[in-house]
Amino acid sequence: MPSKNPSPPAPAAVLCGLAGWVPPGVVTNDDLAVRLDTDDLWIRTRTGIRRRHVADAGQATSDLAVEAGRRALRSSGDETADSVIVTTTTPDRPCPATAPVVATRLGLAGAAAFDVGAVCTGFVYGLATAAGLIAAGVARRVLLIGADTYSTVVDPLDRTSAILFGDGAGAVVLRAGDADEPGAVGHFDLGSDGAHEDLITVAAGGSRQRSAGFEPTRAERHFAMRGKEVYRHAVTRMAASARTTLGRAGWKTDDVDHFVPHQANLRILHSVADDLGLPRERCVAHLDAVGNTGAASIPLALADAVAERRIRPGDRLLLTAFGGGLTWGSCLTTWPGLAEAPQPKRTTA
Ligand code: UT7
Repeated sequence: MPSKNPSPPAPAAVLCGLAGWVPPGVVTNDDLAVRLDTDDLWIRTRTGIRRRHVADAGQATSDLAVEAGRRALRSSGDETADSVIVTTTTPDRPCPATAPVVATRLGLAGAAAFDVGAVCTGFVYGLATAAGLIAAGVARRVLLIGADTYSTVVDPLDRTSAILFGDGAGAVVLRAGDADEPGAVGHFDLGSDGAHEDLITVAAGGSRQRSAGFEPTRAERHFAMRGKEVYRHAVTRMAASARTTLGRAGWKTDDVDHFVPHQANLRILHSVADDLGLPRERCVAHLDAVGNTGAASIPLALADAVAERRIRPGDRLLLTAFGGGLTWGSCLTTWPGLAEAPQPKRTTA
């Protein structure tokens, strides 16, 4: 009996474009110390952050996403995409999603376009979603943008969160390709634990608060975080997720050239690296210049490290994120060559 031809393997999602963009406005630690009971030394030593960028009044998440998305498409050498995913915690509005308007402004009207919400883990969830679309044959080229304007939800008078967050956007392009090509993303680990939904919240604006039938208070309209508890979860969840991913791929810690974590707090990143037995020099950290930019933080950190030629084609990367939900996730890739490298500047190119 003639044997059936084995079906070809599903296409892999291969990174082929990358860019980051942050708005020009800068808020330094000293600027914050003018209005908050804090100081530069405390912020630097407890978080590693020196300054952050903030959007202008009237500038929304889609505006940042368009800037990063346009540059990422350019860096891929082909300005088309059949799917656009925006991952954000600060969408332009509760309805509609932010991705369709971003797609249209990028000249991609007609593309599939939707948002992914996984707070600061959004970029890794977005990568997995893009990989799934490509593997299923639903998409051939996906533009994935992580963008957040936390300045629109953080209480400017809350010293625990106002010091941490900045605004920004980072984007990648993924094309259909082979799993053994440089740039192929895989070995995902994704997880969540809703029992801790209260650790990171914006209470107002959703159906839970609205169905209760009363007007939100000032506190409910703002971002709230139980910092110390989040810190502890971040360290343990990120380390466990990174380990799971390495185990799935059969990689040893030593196989990782660069660990690119969600930029939550430098002490968290170093604790995770220590826990994994990774030298801290292999941990990509740029939060000194931009703070925690939510879903944008991993692609922004990547774009900076590639622009500075710290990450080079052939380098092996471990990406790990953690955020509200709680959510966490990791994946691996080998850095590819891009048609055009990201610009070394973080702001207006
Ligand atoms: O994106 C993912 C989610 N976010 C995170 O991963 C963030 C996780 N959490 C953190 O990064 C840290 O917990 C914070 C940066 C938020 C706080 O740092 P901490 O080292 O955990 O400080 P703490 O909350 O234990 O507070 C230590 C002291 C307290 O004073 P007392 O009680 O010891 O007198 C705080 O009131 O520091 C005080 N404090 C501050 N002092 C100056 C808290 N915030 C500030 C501040 N400036 N901004």
